[in-house]
Amino acid sequence: MNIKIFRNFSEIATLAPALKKDGRRLIPSDIGLIKNGSIVYNQEEILWVGPDSELPEDYKGIDSIDTTGKSCLPEIVDSHTHIVFGGDRAHEYSMRLNGATYEEIAAAGGGILNSMKGTNALSRSELLKLGQQRIRAIKSYGVGTIEIKSGYGLNFEKEYEISRIIHDLKNIVRPDVQIINTFMAAHAVPKEYASSYDYMKEVVLPLLDRLGEEQILDCVDIFHEKNYFSDEDVTSLFERAQRWNIPVKIHADEFNDNKGAILAAKYHALSADHLLSTGADGIAALKDSSTVATLLPGTGLFLGKTQANARAFLDAGVKVAIASDFNPGSCHCDNLLMVAALAAPIYKMNMAELWCAITLNAAHAVGIKSQGAIVPGLKPRFSIFNTDSIDRITYSWGKNLAI
Ligand code: NIG
Ligand code: FE
Repeated sequence: MNIKIFRNFSEIATLAPALKKDGRRLIPSDIGLIKNGSIVYNQEEILWVGPDSELPEDYKGIDSIDTTGKSCLPEIVDSHTHIVFGGDRAHEYSMRLNGATYEEIAAAGGGILNSMKGTNALSRSELLKLGQQRIRAIKSYGVGTIEIKSGYGLNFEKEYEISRIIHDLKNIVRPDVQIINTFMAAHAVPKEYASSYDYMKEVVLPLLDRLGEEQILDCVDIFHEKNYFSDEDVTSLFERAQRWNIPVKIHADEFNDNKGAILAAKYHALSADHLLSTGADGIAALKDSSTVATLLPGTGLFLGKTQANARAFLDAGVKVAIASDFNPGSCHCDNLLMVAALAAPIYKMNMAELWCAITLNAAHAVGIKSQGAIVPGLKPRFSIFNTDSIDRITYSWGKNLAI
């Protein structure tokens, strides 16, 4: 078996203690810091990790890579993106700075429906190319696993095409980058449908059946919000996904406390995302579940909204992740590390909570249990930075130290 060895990282954050605690109630030392550390692995799994001074004799004669002056963490996972879209909404951002709200812009035909037009104006190959470019940019910040949602086609043919494009992207960029293909045709209701129920019945559910048969989906998601999709829509989608054995996720409690977090826990969703308005009952439901609370601070900043009450989730023992939500409307920022570093002081997160939110818990938020910590037996997926101190990675906002 082809053994590889990194010798002498200045710092390794293993997150081994965080893994033991299932990513909950973390204290700073749960980051699992090793100084002058080495890692032994093969293609499938990590074999050994520890201080270089304790490297077992058997490994000493094997060729190794000298990583002095560099730092290593479990691979960063961006567990929530919408990167397959055409056009942009720069003008809407300016309109918001000039006083309009996201909801007002959407009601006037802007918002997701505006990106629907921009997306339908592009061909399959144009969207594929844009997707590749965006993945390359995200990867350059040290992110190795990216969840991508469909949802800007909003008709049967284009949504089908987008889910197939995500599948193609997955095959093109693997194994360097791991893609999670999430079906989110239930993103907004196009004007030609009288109700969300009609759109679900005519487009979303039949398309899920078709893609379910083709076995290319990893997750299903829905925007549960006033003027978007109702409790009944969520229930019908989640039950259909269960039939196909596809895990579910939900955009929950973004603008109002719609009890989306409670629905997420009820259906054992992988994650409930946004959660700006979740009440105490939603937090209580999540703490007793395996559902990850995925916070999207970039979106709160971009929309100028009050941020999620991260401490309430963390102190209750909920598993918390942070993702970019990169999309054309509510967060046009592809740099998860920058967003998370900016958010940490607002969320009052400690360093273990911060790193766990973009590695271990983010992997769990997309259904991957085989990575997220540097411990023997887990997958050898790492993020490596050109600095001798992990502190410096999140200290240097927007500076890219990834290798
Ligand atoms: O996650 N909230 C719903 N969907 C996206 C927004 C998409 C858009 O505005 O284009 C989100 O923020
Ligand atoms: Fe989103």
